[in-house]
Amino acid sequence: MSPDRGGSAVTAAGAAAATDVAAEHRDRKAEHIELSLEQGMQLRASFFDEYVFDHQALPEIDYDDIDLETEFLGRALEAPLLISCMTGGTGEATRINRNLAEAAQRAGIAVGVGSQRKALEDPVQAESFKIRPLAPSVPLLANLGAVQLNYGFGIDQCRAAVEMIDADALVFHLNPLQEAIQPEGQCDFSGLVEKMGAIGRELDVPLVVKEIGCGLSVEAAKGIREAGISIVDSAGLGGTSWARIEASRASDVELGELFADWGVSTPRSIQALRSVGGLTIIGSGGVRRGLDAAKAIAMGADMVGLAQPFLVAAVDSADRVVEAARRVERELRIAMFCLGVRSIAELQRVELLKRTER
Ligand SMILES: Cc1cc2nc3c(=O)[nH]c(=O)nc-3n(C[C@H](O)[C@H](O)[C@H](O)COP(=O)(O)O)c2cc1C
Repeated sequence: MSPDRGGSAVTAAGAAAATDVAAEHRDRKAEHIELSLEQGMQLRASFFDEYVFDHQALPEIDYDDIDLETEFLGRALEAPLLISCMTGGTGEATRINRNLAEAAQRAGIAVGVGSQRKALEDPVQAESFKIRPLAPSVPLLANLGAVQLNYGFGIDQCRAAVEMIDADALVFHLNPLQEAIQPEGQCDFSGLVEKMGAIGRELDVPLVVKEIGCGLSVEAAKGIREAGISIVDSAGLGGTSWARIEASRASDVELGELFADWGVSTPRSIQALRSVGGLTIIGSGGVRRGLDAAKAIAMGADMVGLAQPFLVAAVDSADRVVEAARRVERELRIAMFCLGVRSIAELQRVELLKRTER
């Protein structure tokens, strides 16, 4: 075989492999988007409904003085909101990411991208993640599955994910239930805390550790903090059900229903994270309204994340995403007004009651 022919054979094989990788990811991410838009993939119970605030008939403040501004990852935000990490890769994901990024910039809120694994394995896909030009001044979060640290990824891939999108932080997601149900799941979760800690010590930007809908427990939070990581995202039980989504992809609805309500509810997860101390907390998982956001903050969250509601809006347009963010902000403001608090810091000191105590 001449060097020329050898070269083209290698190139052809490489191209075929890249196409396979692309096809596998395109299908999975496209299915995730499609399925998470179905109502049946949401948990029906909102755990936030179990809590209520004590109404203050004498708030003694002017509604117009309420200030939602905060700071996250060194950048100023108009409200303590995050568009949780979701997508990238497919054609539809490119449009969704661009709508999310444009809206985040206009609304002055933070935004994350979905797992960049595919773009690291197949650079053609990187374009769909590169949303920094559309969101130049808000916090932008890179994303990888922590389990990839047991499947060949290390500091080089982590740095590359951050550089690819000029991110302010790298999010590691923990998703053992999803991987266990997913037909193509990767289930070696051993030694991950130590590995994440080592990455955190080498990386130039902070790490964030999140679940994807089953919540972080006290034990998980302690491990994460002991590894030197100080930003956590509850991503608790109460919203998008990855058990249902993956079981639906695997045509095993029974397994999905069995594990649909597996996890730490978002309120309990946020309270667990607060009890550990020394953590910046993003409260997420089933946050749907500004009143849920107010409760998450009163429970201890510094920021509040929403995924599925922003996805629904982003499928339509950036305008719809901005409207969704403004709606959440208005509901949050009304709650703060009727509690007599002017700032996010004050809201964090308000006590919640169990609904049964009202
Ligand atoms: C379509 C879709 C794709 C997602 N992909 C990722 C991902 O790649 N990485 C990640 O950390 N979380 C991912 N998530 C999980 C969300 O960030 C979030 O933790 C979860 O959906 C719970 O929030 P929600 O109840 O507001 O939807 C995804 C969510 C959705 C809806």
